[in-house]
Amino acid sequence: MIRVLFNKKGGVGKSSLTVNLAAISASKGLKTLVLDLDTQCNASRYLQKENAEKQDSIFELFDQTITFHLRKKPPVEYCQETQYENLYIIPGSPNLADIESELDSRHKIYKLREALQKLSKEFDRIFIDTPPALNFYSLSALIGADSVLIPIDCDDFAIQGLLSVQNQIAEIIEDHNEDLKIEGIIANQYMTNAKLPGKIIDDLIEQDYPVIPKYIAQSVKMRESHQVQKPLIHYAPKHKLTQSIVAVYEEIEGQAS
Ligand SMILES: Nc1ncnc2c1ncn2[C@@H]1O[C@H](COP(=O)(O)OP(=O)(O)O)[C@@H](O)[C@H]1O
Ligand SMILES: [Mg+2]
Repeated sequence: MIRVLFNKKGGVGKSSLTVNLAAISASKGLKTLVLDLDTQCNASRYLQKENAEKQDSIFELFDQTITFHLRKKPPVEYCQETQYENLYIIPGSPNLADIESELDSRHKIYKLREALQKLSKEFDRIFIDTPPALNFYSLSALIGADSVLIPIDCDDFAIQGLLSVQNQIAEIIEDHNEDLKIEGIIANQYMTNAKLPGKIIDDLIEQDYPVIPKYIAQSVKMRESHQVQKPLIHYAPKHKLTQSIVAVYEEIEGQAS
């Protein structure tokens, strides 16, 4: 099962939720991979210590499709262990930006799908973090994935971008990946005691947007968990924020009680 977290808006929780959903999946015994396609590498930083040994990243995986190599490395050799059992990562790279136009002009848009098909034989779950734009890399991910999750922050502008995101995904489904499912919109940074988020979510549901019926709380624990580079399921397993992400996980995995 390959899931991509996507929204053209930044700061909505793509990286935070990619890592935390993946960590929950791994903690349940599923062999899980995080793939970081954002040049900002926030998901990678969340899971990797600064002095981690320099190993190949997603950059080298893409780069070997446009430069000559005697031996092409199979995708599984790019996967690195994390300090958590069952949790692996292919780290991101700021250098992705340097080869984007060449990959695009040489029509390498299906290369990630090929890699993902191989990786899905090795991993039970794959979670892909994307940049806040529909660029070559996020398009590659949407073409190669089984499902897309769309996180939103529950603020007033959230809805404005959503229609265009949905239309673009519909076009990708039609043109490139008829198996892609919009698994749901994840309401993140939901404040139970504020009026606006509730109204925004109600409006979305009324307009038939597929909002996942469990909302993720807003809490400083998220930032703390980034700072100590520990996913919430390990940093604060009992906290309300963590439990709300577990509830979303169970919802998408069909285990909701
Ligand atoms: N539920 C939450 N509660 C509090 N802060 C959050 C929550 N989700 C994300 N954040 C914070 O919001 C910022 C943006 O989140 P991030 O996951 O990097 O978004 P994106 O990848 O979509 O740009 C980060 O500083 C993160 O710590
Ligand atoms: Mg991000």
